[in-house]
Order: sequence, then C-alpha cells, then structure tokens
Amino acid sequence: MLVKRIAILFSGEGSNLENLIKKLHKKKFENFSIEVVLALSNNPHAKGIQRAKKYAIEPVILDHTKFKTREDFDRSLVDIIKKHHVDLTVLAGFMRILTPIFTKEIKSINVHPSLLPHFKGVNAIDRSFKSSHQKAGATVHFVNEKVDDGEIILQKSFDKEGLDYQSFCNKIHQIEYEILPKAVLKVLKKS
Ligand code: GRF
Repeated sequence: MLVKRIAILFSGEGSNLENLIKKLHKKKFENFSIEVVLALSNNPHAKGIQRAKKYAIEPVILDHTKFKTREDFDRSLVDIIKKHHVDLTVLAGFMRILTPIFTKEIKSINVHPSLLPHFKGVNAIDRSFKSSHQKAGATVHFVNEKVDDGEIILQKSFDKEGLDYQSFCNKIHQIEYEILPKAVLKVLKKS
C-alpha cells in the first residue's frame, strides 16, 4: 500500500500534534496509509516533545535562538524537511513567521484558532472572544508568504452566545482536533 509521509511542526503544548499522531500515524485510509516521519519543534522545552515520544516518535529540535537570521533558520528547516521526503508538512501550533525560503519550497498547511480572514496573527482566541462577532471557530489553510493568509481548506464555526472564556477555548480546540486531521486527509487524497 502507498505510504504518504507527513511532517508535523510544533512549538509548545503539542495537543494538535498528539491528536494528529493518534488519528493518522500508521493508519490506513482507502488506498494509502500515513506515516508521521518527522516531528520538529523550534522550542527545546515544548511539552509536545514528550507527547511525541509516547508514540515512539523522537522529535527533532531546531532551536531558532541558535540562528542569526530568520532566513538561516528557515534554510535549515527546509533542508531537514526535504531529507525526510514528505508529501505534506503540517504546522500544528508552530509559532514562527516563515519566510519565502520556506513557503516557496515546502507544501504546508496550518491550523489557526479563528474564522479566517478574521483575527489573523497572535492572540486570535482572545480577540475573537472579545469581539462583537456572533460566531467563532477555527480554520485550516495552505501556508503562503503572508501570515494566516493562504487558501482555506476547512473551516468550522460555532455560536459564541452564553459561553464563558474557558468553554470558548475548549470549543475552539475541539474544532481544531476535528478539522486538522480531516484537512490533512483531504489534501493527501488530492496529492
Ligand atoms: C492552537 O490553538 C493553534 O491554533 C495555535 O496554537 C495552538 C497550539 O496548541 N496556532 P497545541 O500546541 O497544539 O496544543
């Protein structure tokens, strides 16, 4: 059976990373199976590192503070991803702005905790919670050279009314856990 190879990049908690591993790693889907062949964190202290290890995946640490420029970091990142011959790279809470050195070379998707194009960038959950919008949600999109801007692959919304901040955050994360694996499958089926 055809094996589709994915890389997952993360920076912190890694709950999306773990969810992806649980739902996709070494699983069969119609005419292909999926392998997470690379998990990579730019943060040596990311909690996601331990999460990946539980599934016998040893993450690669690429500490961005050891690089002089953003471009130098991106060049190393691209090299590592290319060496793993991946079909798709998934940004799952990867808190780095990526330069064209990355975006031109690597086909990647990102999960963002808002209904894009609203609330691009940092603190999206807080801004979405405080806004007057009736609906909130999460989005998976292709990555391009602009932050949180590429073509939308999947998006799911909910009604904010009556939710306190904690329930609101939980709802966003549940949606992310639902749509990110679905989006990976959708893209891999077409590739
Ligand atoms: C997610 O909400 C994601 O949308 C945002 O950062 C968070 C990462 O959470 N970019 P985790 O590290 O996957 O737990």
